[in-house]
Amino acid sequence: MKKMSSKRPAAWFETYGCQMNKNDSELVAGILAEHGYTVTRDLDHADIALINTCSVRAHAEQRALGRIHNLAHWKQCAPGRKIVVLGCMAQKDRESLFDEIPAVDLIAGPDAYRHLPGLLKDPGRACDTQPDSTETYSGIHPLRAPHVSGWVTIMRGCDNFCSYCIVPYTRGRERSRPFREIEKEIVQMTSLGFREVTLLGQNVNSYHDGESDFPGLLEKIAANPDLKRIRFMTSHPKDCSERLFEVMGSNGIICPHLHLPVQSGSNRILERMNRGYTREHYLQLIDLARTSIPELAVTTDMMVGFPGESESDFGDTVSLMRTVRFDDAFMYHYSPRPGTASAKMADDVPQEEKLVRLNHIIQIQHMISREIKSGMIGSIRQVMAEETSKQSGSEWLGKTGGNHAVVFPKQHIGPGEIVSIRIESCRGFTLRGTALAAPGHESSSGRIRHQDIPVRQSTPI
Ligand code: SAM
Ligand code: SF4
Ligand code: F3S
Repeated sequence: MKKMSSKRPAAWFETYGCQMNKNDSELVAGILAEHGYTVTRDLDHADIALINTCSVRAHAEQRALGRIHNLAHWKQCAPGRKIVVLGCMAQKDRESLFDEIPAVDLIAGPDAYRHLPGLLKDPGRACDTQPDSTETYSGIHPLRAPHVSGWVTIMRGCDNFCSYCIVPYTRGRERSRPFREIEKEIVQMTSLGFREVTLLGQNVNSYHDGESDFPGLLEKIAANPDLKRIRFMTSHPKDCSERLFEVMGSNGIICPHLHLPVQSGSNRILERMNRGYTREHYLQLIDLARTSIPELAVTTDMMVGFPGESESDFGDTVSLMRTVRFDDAFMYHYSPRPGTASAKMADDVPQEEKLVRLNHIIQIQHMISREIKSGMIGSIRQVMAEETSKQSGSEWLGKTGGNHAVVFPKQHIGPGEIVSIRIESCRGFTLRGTALAAPGHESSSGRIRHQDIPVRQSTPI
């Protein structure tokens, strides 16, 4: 992001929640940049502090609230400073936030970001949380930090109303961005050096812009000759199609990684969650995907302690984990969200028991992830050089097609290059390797075909 100039007002961001929220912060930065703002990483140089919040669990809200409270002191240190609350908690708690934290100047929900430059001119407090189910931020260019890999939101909102989830209430109705808009954004990204895009939506499998469904969209995006890799998330098991797996299996630039949240292994709990599929259907999907896509990595989200989850239901989740052997998983304990359907159910699994169950599945998953990673030692993987490793300036941190992080010596390799790496060790969850002398083999389309098994992805939600 750009450095602050002394004349133009400077915006500082802190973002909580999912990748869509992080991409929204880039979108807001783009909107503000169009109106003369710069973006700074240094809070002391900022004129406005924007906190983009998440409401998915109580803990996410508490972290953001703590941060906003602390900013009250920052605001007092210079005249004209403003605190802006964006995102899902801004939408959900629009009526109480000003009272709870008097230092807040502006509240804007996920459909109101276009109006921010105008709202910021308001000398008093302002709040815009009007849902707009047509808003796809057409024509806005997100302002991204230079990198080789970037997020592209292809749809907004969610219509699924899983009984535990706040997202449909904070993000509104599902809408897909037209392909032409997405294409324009990706062309702009590749001109800036991006070589990988991750397509984002709460349920990408229900994407439809009137012309293409999601597999069709993937094929169209894959035709961009300047892209080397396409990733996407999140897939919902109830809408996952055989055609998606065919397109993934036959198109070399679509990474062999499927993030397919299961939530629970118990049919009784899946029904109470309103997920729209059974354990059996989920397992069939995994079999089909693994048959159709060579060396597929599968990751998931899981929740324990949902209302009514018995020992036996929890046992079903554990057995599903052992059956599927996920490369990685994001694991949570249930947190009731006011206004959702499950908030009306008795939250009857005691907190200590939720934590015991959570720790149990975390241990199992760590063991499986380590086994999968150790099994990669000695193999050769196609790895994209993404950023300088935090441990050493002479090493790259890169990812396999399956999203396993790999550290390797930089040698002559440039950012965004995909190279053949021999995996030599696995310490903790980090794989290390070295590049083979010869570059990675090219697919018939002239681009690298990914042939690897993955593991750990970064989805801090
Ligand atoms: N759209 C994605 C899907 O359907 O799988 C997930 C989006 S949600 C923002 C990310 C994850 O947070 C969910 O998969 C779920 O595991 C978890 N989550 C959502 N609501 C939760 C709640 N009330 N308590 C605990 N975890 C929750
Ligand atoms: Fe929430 Fe379900 Fe929508 Fe995912 S699909 S965002 S879990 S309501
Ligand atoms: Fe959180 Fe909203 Fe994303 S609730 S997970 S920031 S859609």
